[in-house]
Amino acid sequence: MTYPYHRPRRLRRLENLRRLVRETELAVKDLLWPLFVVEGERVRQPVESMPGVFRYSVDQLLGELEEAVELGLPGVLLFGVTDRKDPQGSEAWNREGVVPRAIRAIKARFPELVVAADVCLCPYTDHGHCGVVEEGRVLNDPTLPLLARAAVTYAEAGADLVAPSDMMDGRVRAIREALDAAGFQEVGIMAYSAKYASAFYGPFREAAESAPRFGDRRSYQMDPANAAEALWEVELDLEEGADIVMVKPALAYLDVIRQVKDAFGRPVAAYNVSGEYAMIKAAAKLGWLDEKAVVLEVLTAIKRAGADIIITYFAKEAARWLRR
Ligand code: PBG
Repeated sequence: MTYPYHRPRRLRRLENLRRLVRETELAVKDLLWPLFVVEGERVRQPVESMPGVFRYSVDQLLGELEEAVELGLPGVLLFGVTDRKDPQGSEAWNREGVVPRAIRAIKARFPELVVAADVCLCPYTDHGHCGVVEEGRVLNDPTLPLLARAAVTYAEAGADLVAPSDMMDGRVRAIREALDAAGFQEVGIMAYSAKYASAFYGPFREAAESAPRFGDRRSYQMDPANAAEALWEVELDLEEGADIVMVKPALAYLDVIRQVKDAFGRPVAAYNVSGEYAMIKAAAKLGWLDEKAVVLEVLTAIKRAGADIIITYFAKEAARWLRR
């Protein structure tokens, strides 16, 4: 035998050899598409810091979904955007609010499409925090029934999954109990379990008009330095009844995704957030990166890390590329 004895390159010689030994294959069925829903009709507002992302009124949304369904995307995650804000965020549980209306319209037209609704108060509170505020502090326990009420409202409208993103302690159980009491035993909870206080949410806050008016979210969202704590958060959410647990953001937290998958073996979602989208779009626009190649690499890496579900603003484009 001649040296080197071991030649990993043998299996990289042909694309078909590479395909045979490929460990991870990104698929359209892995992708969940986040969408912003606004008031009004025929509205299609571009989000400046997220080129290619729009805020749609309900009527426009349905048209957008036509192609998504055609491409085989399994579902969407809805965020409401509205001017109707108050200290409690009561628009979050308005049955005629943008999100319940969107859910009803989508389920009527595309009954097989999974509709997940984000559950949080920040798009609906005048102070922009994810919970009830008193003397500058975000209160945990008084926030729980409000989140539960919002979740039940989305379930009533026909949501398949509710996705609490507020990071209050105990909200998964509060939501599970409220859903069950209202007869929605079959509505699942996709909990933002390990949600970090991340600077990568910047563009989203422009899109959802949900930036906090004072302070920041570090008293409820996690410290980016912590991973063991993420496992504790996930453990608690599973104990409280979460069906799917989420790590968010994705790219700077691939190690956390892997640890959560290995430790619990339960369905894991990873959120490829707004800032991760914006970085790629900006570099691609300047001609510094090959967008398609980078997006497929990033999404494949998130799956390789252990995510079963990838929430990404690239869902539709990625689905088109994957179909070809
Ligand atoms: C609301 C919420 C946020 C995101 C999802 N739900 C923003 C935040 O916590 O400030 C971020 C999503 C993204 O950046 O794409 N709590």
